[in-house]
Amino acid sequence: MIQIISDVLSPEEVKRFRELLGQAQWQDGRATAGHVAIRAKANEQLSQDDPLAQQLSEFLLDRLGQISHFVAAALPLKVLPPRFNRYTGGGNYGDHIDNAIFTVPASGTRIRGDLSSTLFLSDPDDYEGGELIVQGEIERHHFKLPAGQMILYPSGSFHQVTPVTRGTRLGAFFWTQSLVREHSRRALLFELDNTIQGLAQNDPGQPAVGRLTGLYHNLLREWCDT
Ligand code: NI
Repeated sequence: MIQIISDVLSPEEVKRFRELLGQAQWQDGRATAGHVAIRAKANEQLSQDDPLAQQLSEFLLDRLGQISHFVAAALPLKVLPPRFNRYTGGGNYGDHIDNAIFTVPASGTRIRGDLSSTLFLSDPDDYEGGELIVQGEIERHHFKLPAGQMILYPSGSFHQVTPVTRGTRLGAFFWTQSLVREHSRRALLFELDNTIQGLAQNDPGQPAVGRLTGLYHNLLREWCDT
């Protein structure tokens, strides 16, 4: 299940992020690629020790917890603090699958990457190329989202960023370990959640809402790992 999460940041917040990131100390992104991915990666990133990166990362982590679409779709158990990248001058990231395990620098906590996210911070008109292409079960999906929107997709998917041939593409990216590891089960829970929300909007008092909510929690109890 691939989801587009809109309104992660407001236009004003995106502007502020871009101003701050414009003054940041960018480093070669290959420093954090796995030994296979390193050959495919040509971009810049902020160091995780960078105080600006940490400040923006904490802001985003806090925000993600308030976005019901993200919480319902990802069912997050642990979220790796978001990192920031920049593609310019032909920068790209060839087709690859992300690593399975990540370590939170501050705590040493390990996170299994179930879901990958990219938050777009540049306006699509400000750069040429720079599409995120994610391989679905049957076809490839192309994303070049408005600034402030985010894509959420299974971390086991092949994906790539096409060369940025004009302008600059800024983004944030992170991984989430979900309470529900299996994508198919998580998708069923999300569908059930949406159905309950729809019913509750029309008639919050109807008994089916309570029964389906109970069913949702019982399925989550069966399937979740904490
Ligand atoms: Ni990747």
